[in-house]
Amino acid sequence: MPNNEEVLLKVDHLCQYFKMGSSELKAVDDVSFDIKKGEVFGLVGESGCGKTTTGRSIIKIYDITSGDIFFKGIRIGAGVRSYKNKKREAKKEYLENKSKETDPAKLAAMKQEYKAVVSEQNKQIKAAKHDQKKCDKEYQKKRVVEVKEQYLPMIEKASESEKSSIRKEYNNELRKAKKTKLVTQIQMIFQDPIASLDPRMTVREIISEGLIIQGERNKEVINKKVYEMLELVGLVREHASRYPHEFSGGQRQRIGVARSIIMNPELIIADEPVSALDVSIQAQVINLLNDLRKQFGLTIMFIAHDLSVVKYFSDRIGVMYFGKMVELATSEELFKNPLHPYTKSLLSAIPLPDPDYEKQRKRIVYNPLESHDYSVSKPSMHEITPGHLIYCNDEELEKYRTELK
Ligand SMILES: Nc1ncnc2c1ncn2[C@@H]1O[C@H](COP(=O)(O)OP(=O)(O)OP(=O)(O)O)[C@@H](O)[C@H]1O
Ligand SMILES: [Mg+2]
Repeated sequence: MPNNEEVLLKVDHLCQYFKMGSSELKAVDDVSFDIKKGEVFGLVGESGCGKTTTGRSIIKIYDITSGDIFFKGIRIGAGVRSYKNKKREAKKEYLENKSKETDPAKLAAMKQEYKAVVSEQNKQIKAAKHDQKKCDKEYQKKRVVEVKEQYLPMIEKASESEKSSIRKEYNNELRKAKKTKLVTQIQMIFQDPIASLDPRMTVREIISEGLIIQGERNKEVINKKVYEMLELVGLVREHASRYPHEFSGGQRQRIGVARSIIMNPELIIADEPVSALDVSIQAQVINLLNDLRKQFGLTIMFIAHDLSVVKYFSDRIGVMYFGKMVELATSEELFKNPLHPYTKSLLSAIPLPDPDYEKQRKRIVYNPLESHDYSVSKPSMHEITPGHLIYCNDEELEKYRTELK
Protein backbone atom coordinates (compact mmCIF):
# COMPACT_ATOMS: atom_id res chain seq x y z
CA MET A 1 0.00 0.00 0.00
CA PRO A 2 1.45 3.41 -0.85
CA ASN A 3 2.43 5.40 2.17
CA ASN A 4 1.78 8.81 0.74
CA GLU A 5 -1.37 10.37 -0.57
CA GLU A 6 0.00 12.29 -3.53
CA VAL A 7 -2.47 12.07 -6.38
CA LEU A 8 -0.63 11.18 -9.60
CA LEU A 9 -3.59 10.92 -11.94
CA LYS A 10 -6.98 12.50 -11.58
CA VAL A 11 -9.80 11.66 -13.94
CA ASP A 12 -12.68 14.04 -13.49
CA HIS A 13 -16.10 13.48 -15.10
CA LEU A 14 -14.50 11.84 -18.12
CA CYS A 15 -16.83 11.26 -21.07
CA GLN A 16 -15.74 9.63 -24.30
CA TYR A 17 -18.51 9.32 -26.84
CA PHE A 18 -18.13 7.79 -30.28
CA LYS A 19 -20.20 8.77 -33.30
CA MET A 20 -22.32 5.87 -34.53
CA GLY A 21 -24.07 7.20 -37.59
CA SER A 22 -26.58 9.73 -36.36
CA SER A 23 -26.39 8.64 -32.70
CA GLU A 24 -23.59 8.42 -30.17
CA LEU A 25 -22.11 5.56 -28.23
CA LYS A 26 -21.27 6.59 -24.68
CA ALA A 27 -18.24 4.32 -24.25
CA VAL A 28 -17.19 6.17 -21.09
CA ASP A 29 -19.83 8.29 -19.40
CA ASP A 30 -19.01 10.62 -16.53
CA VAL A 31 -16.30 8.54 -14.89
CA SER A 32 -14.23 10.00 -12.05
CA PHE A 33 -11.41 8.48 -10.01
CA ASP A 34 -7.89 9.25 -8.96
CA ILE A 35 -4.75 7.18 -8.64
CA LYS A 36 -2.27 7.90 -5.91
CA LYS A 37 1.45 7.68 -6.40
CA GLY A 38 2.72 4.15 -5.84
CA GLU A 39 -0.62 2.43 -5.81
CA VAL A 40 -2.12 -0.23 -8.03
CA PHE A 41 -5.57 0.75 -9.15
CA GLY A 42 -7.64 -2.06 -10.64
CA LEU A 43 -10.33 -1.30 -13.19
CA VAL A 44 -12.72 -4.16 -13.82
CA GLY A 45 -15.88 -4.76 -15.77
CA GLU A 46 -17.23 -6.95 -18.52
CA SER A 47 -16.23 -6.77 -22.16
CA GLY A 48 -17.22 -3.51 -23.83
CA CYS A 49 -17.82 -1.53 -20.62
CA GLY A 50 -15.21 1.09 -21.55
CA LYS A 51 -12.03 0.04 -19.71
CA THR A 52 -9.70 0.27 -22.70
CA THR A 53 -11.36 3.49 -23.83
CA THR A 54 -10.69 4.98 -20.39
CA GLY A 55 -7.01 4.02 -20.69
CA ARG A 56 -6.72 5.30 -24.23
CA SER A 57 -8.36 8.58 -23.25
CA ILE A 58 -5.80 9.03 -20.48
CA ILE A 59 -2.86 8.61 -22.87
CA LYS A 60 -4.53 11.08 -25.23
CA ILE A 61 -5.29 8.79 -28.13
CA TYR A 62 -8.61 10.63 -28.30
CA ASP A 63 -9.69 14.22 -27.90
CA ILE A 64 -12.04 13.49 -25.03
CA THR A 65 -15.67 14.53 -25.30
CA SER A 66 -15.97 16.06 -21.88
CA GLY A 67 -14.29 16.21 -18.48
CA ASP A 68 -10.70 16.70 -17.37
CA ILE A 69 -7.61 14.56 -16.92
CA PHE A 70 -4.85 15.80 -14.64
CA PHE A 71 -1.41 14.20 -14.45
CA LYS A 72 0.90 15.45 -11.70
CA GLY A 73 -1.47 18.35 -11.20
CA ILE A 74 -1.24 19.48 -14.84
CA ARG A 75 -4.32 19.25 -17.01
CA ILE A 76 -3.32 17.02 -19.93
CA GLY A 77 -6.78 16.32 -21.28
CA ALA A 78 -9.89 18.45 -21.41
CA GLY A 79 -13.16 18.08 -23.29
CA VAL A 80 -15.52 20.89 -24.15
CA ARG A 81 -18.94 19.25 -24.42
CA SER A 82 -20.10 20.22 -20.92
CA TYR A 83 -19.29 23.90 -21.54
CA LYS A 84 -21.11 23.85 -24.86
CA ASN A 85 -24.12 22.27 -23.17
CA LYS A 86 -24.17 25.00 -20.55
CA LYS A 87 -24.20 27.60 -23.29
CA ARG A 88 -27.05 25.85 -25.05
CA GLU A 89 -29.09 25.56 -21.87
CA ALA A 90 -28.52 29.21 -21.03
CA LYS A 91 -29.67 30.20 -24.52
CA LYS A 92 -32.80 28.10 -24.28
CA GLU A 93 -33.68 29.51 -20.88
CA TYR A 94 -33.04 33.05 -22.05
CA LEU A 95 -35.19 32.72 -25.16
CA GLU A 96 -38.01 31.16 -23.16
CA ASN A 97 -38.02 33.82 -20.50
CA LYS A 98 -37.54 36.61 -23.01
CA SER A 99 -40.84 35.91 -24.73
CA LYS A 100 -42.68 36.09 -21.40
CA GLU A 101 -41.03 39.25 -20.06
CA THR A 102 -42.25 42.78 -20.92
CA ASP A 103 -40.35 44.96 -18.45
CA PRO A 104 -37.41 46.43 -20.45
CA ALA A 105 -35.18 46.71 -17.37
CA LYS A 106 -35.66 43.04 -16.52
CA LEU A 107 -35.15 42.10 -20.15
CA ALA A 108 -31.85 43.93 -20.22
CA ALA A 109 -30.76 42.23 -16.99
CA MET A 110 -31.68 38.82 -18.42
CA LYS A 111 -29.71 39.49 -21.54
CA GLN A 112 -26.70 40.55 -19.56
CA GLU A 113 -26.89 37.44 -17.41
CA TYR A 114 -27.11 35.27 -20.51
CA LYS A 115 -24.13 37.00 -22.08
CA ALA A 116 -22.11 36.52 -18.92
CA VAL A 117 -22.77 32.76 -19.02
CA VAL A 118 -21.72 32.57 -22.68
CA SER A 119 -18.57 34.56 -22.08
CA GLU A 120 -17.58 32.41 -19.07
CA GLN A 121 -18.17 29.17 -20.99
CA ASN A 122 -16.22 30.48 -23.98
CA LYS A 123 -13.35 31.20 -21.64
CA GLN A 124 -13.50 27.63 -20.32
CA ILE A 125 -13.61 26.20 -23.85
CA LYS A 126 -10.59 28.21 -24.88
CA ALA A 127 -8.66 27.10 -21.79
CA ALA A 128 -9.64 23.46 -22.34
CA LYS A 129 -8.54 23.52 -25.99
CA HIS A 130 -5.30 25.18 -24.99
CA ASP A 131 -4.50 22.55 -22.35
CA GLN A 132 -5.52 19.67 -24.60
CA LYS A 133 -3.13 20.86 -27.34
CA LYS A 134 -0.42 22.82 -25.58
CA CYS A 135 0.22 21.12 -22.25
CA ASP A 136 3.33 19.46 -23.67
CA LYS A 137 4.70 22.72 -25.08
CA GLU A 138 4.57 24.22 -21.62
CA TYR A 139 6.08 21.15 -20.05
CA GLN A 140 8.90 21.29 -22.60
CA LYS A 141 9.64 24.89 -21.70
CA LYS A 142 9.81 23.90 -18.04
CA ARG A 143 12.15 20.97 -18.79
CA VAL A 144 14.44 23.19 -20.88
CA VAL A 145 14.77 25.58 -17.94
CA GLU A 146 15.51 22.66 -15.60
CA VAL A 147 18.20 21.23 -17.89
CA LYS A 148 19.82 24.67 -18.20
CA GLU A 149 19.77 25.13 -14.46
CA GLN A 150 21.38 21.73 -14.01
CA TYR A 151 24.09 21.96 -16.67
CA LEU A 152 25.12 25.61 -17.06
CA PRO A 153 26.68 25.88 -13.58
CA MET A 154 28.41 22.52 -14.17
CA ILE A 155 29.93 23.79 -17.43
CA GLU A 156 30.97 27.01 -15.70
CA LYS A 157 32.83 25.14 -12.98
CA ALA A 158 34.32 22.40 -15.16
CA SER A 159 37.95 22.37 -16.18
CA GLU A 160 38.81 22.95 -19.85
CA SER A 161 39.30 19.23 -20.49
CA GLU A 162 35.92 18.29 -18.97
CA LYS A 163 34.02 21.09 -20.65
CA SER A 164 33.50 19.57 -24.05
CA SER A 165 32.11 16.27 -22.77
CA ILE A 166 29.72 17.99 -20.36
CA ARG A 167 28.66 20.33 -23.12
CA LYS A 168 27.92 17.35 -25.35
CA GLU A 169 25.79 15.77 -22.65
CA TYR A 170 24.09 19.11 -22.08
CA ASN A 171 23.19 19.47 -25.76
CA ASN A 172 21.85 15.93 -25.80
CA GLU A 173 19.68 16.55 -22.73
CA LEU A 174 18.53 19.89 -24.11
CA ARG A 175 17.44 18.28 -27.36
CA LYS A 176 15.49 15.65 -25.42
CA ALA A 177 13.90 18.29 -23.18
CA LYS A 178 12.62 20.12 -26.24
CA LYS A 179 10.94 16.94 -27.46
CA THR A 180 9.69 15.60 -24.16
CA LYS A 181 6.02 14.95 -23.60
CA LEU A 182 4.21 14.65 -20.32
CA VAL A 183 2.15 11.84 -21.67
CA THR A 184 5.22 9.64 -22.32
CA GLN A 185 5.46 9.35 -18.54
CA ILE A 186 2.29 7.33 -18.85
CA GLN A 187 2.87 4.09 -20.74
CA MET A 188 0.26 1.61 -21.78
CA ILE A 189 0.78 -2.13 -22.06
CA PHE A 190 -1.73 -3.21 -24.64
CA GLN A 191 -4.39 -5.84 -24.36
CA ASP A 192 -3.32 -7.91 -27.33
CA PRO A 193 0.37 -8.91 -27.25
CA ILE A 194 0.22 -10.08 -30.86
CA ALA A 195 -1.39 -7.09 -32.53
CA SER A 196 0.46 -4.50 -30.47
CA LEU A 197 3.95 -5.42 -31.73
CA ASP A 198 4.91 -4.48 -35.28
CA PRO A 199 5.87 -7.77 -37.00
CA ARG A 200 8.40 -6.04 -39.25
CA MET A 201 10.44 -4.58 -36.42
CA THR A 202 13.09 -6.39 -34.41
CA VAL A 203 12.71 -6.56 -30.67
CA ARG A 204 15.52 -4.03 -30.36
CA GLU A 205 13.67 -1.60 -32.63
CA ILE A 206 10.41 -2.14 -30.80
CA ILE A 207 11.86 -1.61 -27.35
CA SER A 208 14.00 1.39 -28.29
CA GLU A 209 11.45 3.17 -30.49
CA GLY A 210 10.18 5.43 -27.71
CA LEU A 211 13.69 6.46 -26.69
CA ILE A 212 14.54 7.40 -30.27
CA ILE A 213 11.35 9.40 -30.68
CA GLN A 214 12.29 11.15 -27.47
CA GLY A 215 15.51 12.28 -29.09
CA GLU A 216 18.08 9.74 -27.91
CA ARG A 217 20.68 9.20 -30.67
CA ASN A 218 23.57 7.56 -28.92
CA LYS A 219 23.61 3.96 -30.19
CA GLU A 220 25.62 2.70 -27.25
CA VAL A 221 23.21 4.19 -24.73
CA ILE A 222 20.27 2.74 -26.65
CA ASN A 223 21.77 -0.77 -26.86
CA LYS A 224 22.75 -0.77 -23.21
CA LYS A 225 19.24 0.21 -22.18
CA VAL A 226 17.61 -2.36 -24.45
CA TYR A 227 19.74 -5.15 -22.95
CA GLU A 228 19.01 -3.92 -19.46
CA MET A 229 15.28 -3.98 -20.14
CA LEU A 230 15.38 -7.42 -21.74
CA GLU A 231 17.11 -8.83 -18.70
CA LEU A 232 14.77 -7.01 -16.37
CA VAL A 233 11.74 -8.70 -17.89
CA GLY A 234 13.37 -12.14 -17.92
CA LEU A 235 14.51 -12.29 -21.55
CA VAL A 236 18.10 -12.32 -22.84
CA ARG A 237 20.21 -10.01 -25.03
CA GLU A 238 20.20 -12.45 -27.91
CA HIS A 239 16.48 -11.84 -28.25
CA ALA A 240 17.13 -8.26 -29.37
CA SER A 241 17.69 -9.09 -33.02
CA ARG A 242 14.68 -11.40 -33.36
CA TYR A 243 11.18 -10.64 -34.59
CA PRO A 244 7.93 -10.80 -32.56
CA HIS A 245 6.56 -13.89 -34.33
CA GLU A 246 9.48 -15.88 -32.94
CA PHE A 247 8.15 -15.48 -29.40
CA SER A 248 5.41 -17.07 -27.32
CA GLY A 249 2.47 -15.03 -26.02
CA GLY A 250 3.98 -14.61 -22.57
CA GLN A 251 7.32 -13.55 -24.03
CA ARG A 252 5.62 -11.03 -26.29
CA GLN A 253 3.87 -9.53 -23.33
CA ARG A 254 7.29 -9.24 -21.67
CA ILE A 255 8.53 -7.36 -24.73
CA GLY A 256 5.51 -5.06 -24.28
CA VAL A 257 6.46 -4.52 -20.66
CA ALA A 258 10.10 -3.78 -21.62
CA ARG A 259 8.92 -1.29 -24.25
CA SER A 260 6.97 0.66 -21.66
CA ILE A 261 9.48 0.45 -18.80
CA ILE A 262 12.34 1.80 -20.94
CA MET A 263 10.56 5.15 -21.04
CA ASN A 264 10.99 5.39 -17.30
CA PRO A 265 7.29 5.99 -16.84
CA GLU A 266 5.62 7.07 -13.63
CA LEU A 267 2.34 5.45 -14.49
CA ILE A 268 1.72 2.23 -16.35
CA ILE A 269 -1.68 1.40 -17.72
CA ALA A 270 -1.70 -2.37 -18.06
CA ASP A 271 -4.69 -3.25 -20.21
CA GLU A 272 -5.57 -6.87 -19.48
CA PRO A 273 -1.89 -7.76 -19.85
CA VAL A 274 -2.51 -11.38 -18.95
CA SER A 275 -5.95 -12.27 -20.26
CA ALA A 276 -4.57 -13.64 -23.52
CA LEU A 277 -2.11 -15.88 -21.67
CA ASP A 278 -2.12 -19.30 -20.04
CA VAL A 279 -2.91 -19.34 -16.35
CA SER A 280 0.64 -20.37 -15.43
CA ILE A 281 2.13 -17.56 -17.54
CA GLN A 282 -0.41 -15.08 -16.14
CA ALA A 283 1.12 -15.47 -12.70
CA GLN A 284 4.60 -14.88 -14.11
CA VAL A 285 3.64 -11.64 -15.82
CA ILE A 286 1.77 -10.41 -12.74
CA ASN A 287 4.77 -11.22 -10.56
CA LEU A 288 6.99 -9.37 -13.01
CA LEU A 289 4.78 -6.27 -12.81
CA ASN A 290 4.74 -6.56 -9.04
CA ASP A 291 8.55 -6.72 -8.90
CA LEU A 292 8.90 -3.75 -11.22
CA ARG A 293 6.44 -1.84 -9.14
CA LYS A 294 8.55 -2.38 -6.03
CA GLN A 295 11.83 -1.72 -7.82
CA PHE A 296 10.83 1.51 -9.55
CA GLY A 297 8.05 2.77 -7.31
CA LEU A 298 5.72 2.49 -10.29
CA THR A 299 2.09 3.38 -10.16
CA ILE A 300 -0.12 0.98 -12.08
CA MET A 301 -3.61 1.09 -13.45
CA PHE A 302 -4.48 -2.52 -14.00
CA ILE A 303 -7.39 -3.34 -16.29
CA ALA A 304 -9.07 -6.74 -16.12
CA HIS A 305 -12.50 -8.13 -16.77
CA ASP A 306 -12.80 -10.28 -13.71
CA LEU A 307 -12.03 -9.63 -10.11
CA SER A 308 -9.91 -12.70 -9.39
CA VAL A 309 -6.92 -11.29 -11.29
CA VAL A 310 -6.93 -7.89 -9.61
CA LYS A 311 -7.84 -9.08 -6.14
CA TYR A 312 -4.39 -9.55 -4.63
CA PHE A 313 -2.60 -7.08 -6.83
CA SER A 314 -4.68 -3.92 -6.40
CA ASP A 315 -4.86 -1.47 -3.54
CA ARG A 316 -8.12 -0.03 -4.77
CA ILE A 317 -10.59 -1.27 -7.36
CA GLY A 318 -13.07 0.54 -9.56
CA VAL A 319 -15.93 -1.46 -11.08
CA MET A 320 -17.32 -0.29 -14.42
CA TYR A 321 -20.56 -1.23 -16.06
CA PHE A 322 -21.65 0.08 -19.46
CA GLY A 323 -19.51 3.21 -19.46
CA LYS A 324 -20.24 4.10 -15.84
CA MET A 325 -18.19 3.60 -12.70
CA VAL A 326 -20.64 1.81 -10.40
CA GLU A 327 -18.51 1.11 -7.33
CA LEU A 328 -15.08 2.08 -6.09
CA ALA A 329 -13.34 1.02 -2.86
CA THR A 330 -10.17 -0.47 -1.45
CA SER A 331 -9.78 -4.12 -2.47
CA GLU A 332 -10.36 -5.23 1.09
CA GLU A 333 -13.56 -3.22 1.45
CA LEU A 334 -14.87 -4.27 -1.95
CA PHE A 335 -14.50 -7.94 -1.13
CA LYS A 336 -15.83 -7.54 2.40
CA ASN A 337 -18.74 -5.23 1.71
CA PRO A 338 -19.71 -5.30 -1.95
CA LEU A 339 -22.84 -3.20 -2.41
CA HIS A 340 -23.66 -2.78 -6.07
CA PRO A 341 -25.50 -5.79 -7.52
CA TYR A 342 -23.07 -5.81 -10.45
CA THR A 343 -20.08 -6.07 -8.10
CA LYS A 344 -21.85 -8.90 -6.31
CA SER A 345 -22.38 -10.66 -9.59
CA LEU A 346 -18.67 -10.30 -10.47
CA LEU A 347 -17.71 -11.68 -7.07
CA SER A 348 -20.02 -14.63 -7.45
CA ALA A 349 -18.13 -15.58 -10.61
CA ILE A 350 -14.81 -16.13 -8.83
CA PRO A 351 -14.11 -19.83 -8.34
CA LEU A 352 -12.39 -20.96 -5.15
CA PRO A 353 -10.20 -24.05 -4.76
CA ASP A 354 -12.71 -25.57 -2.35
CA PRO A 355 -14.92 -28.37 -3.75
CA ASP A 356 -17.61 -27.96 -1.06
CA TYR A 357 -17.87 -24.26 -1.71
CA GLU A 358 -17.83 -24.81 -5.46
CA LYS A 359 -20.74 -27.26 -5.25
CA GLN A 360 -22.86 -24.60 -3.60
CA ARG A 361 -21.52 -21.56 -5.44
CA LYS A 362 -24.34 -19.76 -7.19
CA ARG A 363 -23.66 -17.23 -9.88
CA ILE A 364 -25.61 -14.07 -9.30
CA VAL A 365 -26.78 -12.66 -12.60
CA TYR A 366 -26.98 -8.90 -12.82
CA ASN A 367 -30.01 -7.53 -14.55
CA PRO A 368 -30.03 -3.73 -14.36
CA LEU A 369 -33.71 -3.42 -15.26
CA GLU A 370 -34.68 -5.70 -12.39
CA SER A 371 -32.20 -4.28 -9.91
CA HIS A 372 -32.86 -0.56 -10.25
CA ASP A 373 -35.76 1.77 -10.78
CA TYR A 374 -34.29 5.04 -11.97
CA SER A 375 -37.49 6.35 -13.59
CA VAL A 376 -37.99 9.04 -10.92
CA SER A 377 -34.93 9.32 -8.70
CA LYS A 378 -31.74 9.47 -10.78
CA PRO A 379 -28.50 7.81 -9.69
CA SER A 380 -25.18 9.50 -9.01
CA MET A 381 -21.92 8.72 -7.18
CA HIS A 382 -22.17 8.74 -3.36
CA GLU A 383 -19.42 8.20 -0.80
CA ILE A 384 -21.14 5.82 1.55
CA THR A 385 -18.18 5.34 3.90
CA PRO A 386 -14.80 7.09 3.55
CA GLY A 387 -13.27 5.93 0.28
CA HIS A 388 -16.16 3.65 -0.66
CA LEU A 389 -18.13 5.11 -3.55
CA ILE A 390 -21.31 3.73 -4.97
CA TYR A 391 -23.45 4.71 -7.95
CA CYS A 392 -27.06 4.77 -6.79
CA ASN A 393 -30.11 6.93 -6.13
CA ASP A 394 -31.22 8.18 -2.71
CA GLU A 395 -33.48 5.24 -2.03
CA GLU A 396 -30.76 2.72 -2.82
CA LEU A 397 -28.31 4.68 -0.73
CA GLU A 398 -30.55 4.22 2.31
CA LYS A 399 -30.85 0.52 1.54
CA TYR A 400 -27.06 0.16 1.21
CA ARG A 401 -26.57 2.05 4.48
CA THR A 402 -28.74 -0.43 6.36
CA GLU A 403 -26.99 -3.28 4.59
CA LEU A 404 -23.64 -1.99 5.84
CA LYS A 405 -24.90 -1.83 9.42
N1 LIG B 1 -12.57 3.91 -31.69
C1 LIG B 1 -13.83 3.52 -31.43
N2 LIG B 1 -14.87 3.90 -32.22
C2 LIG B 1 -16.13 3.53 -31.97
N3 LIG B 1 -16.49 2.76 -30.92
C3 LIG B 1 -15.51 2.34 -30.09
C4 LIG B 1 -14.14 2.68 -30.31
N4 LIG B 1 -13.40 2.12 -29.32
C5 LIG B 1 -14.25 1.46 -28.53
N5 LIG B 1 -15.54 1.57 -28.99
C6 LIG B 1 -16.73 1.02 -28.35
O1 LIG B 1 -16.76 1.50 -27.02
C7 LIG B 1 -17.21 0.50 -26.12
C8 LIG B 1 -16.16 0.27 -25.05
O2 LIG B 1 -15.04 -0.36 -25.63
P1 LIG B 1 -13.73 -0.71 -24.84
O3 LIG B 1 -12.75 -1.25 -25.79
O4 LIG B 1 -13.33 0.45 -24.02
O5 LIG B 1 -14.24 -1.88 -23.88
P2 LIG B 1 -13.44 -2.76 -22.83
O6 LIG B 1 -14.09 -2.56 -21.51
O7 LIG B 1 -12.00 -2.49 -22.93
O8 LIG B 1 -13.78 -4.24 -23.33
P3 LIG B 1 -12.85 -5.57 -23.40
O9 LIG B 1 -12.88 -6.17 -22.03
O10 LIG B 1 -13.55 -6.42 -24.40
O11 LIG B 1 -11.50 -5.15 -23.84
C9 LIG B 1 -17.52 -0.73 -26.97
O12 LIG B 1 -18.90 -0.75 -27.22
C10 LIG B 1 -16.72 -0.49 -28.24
O13 LIG B 1 -17.36 -1.07 -29.33
MG1 LIG C 1 -10.38 -3.61 -23.53
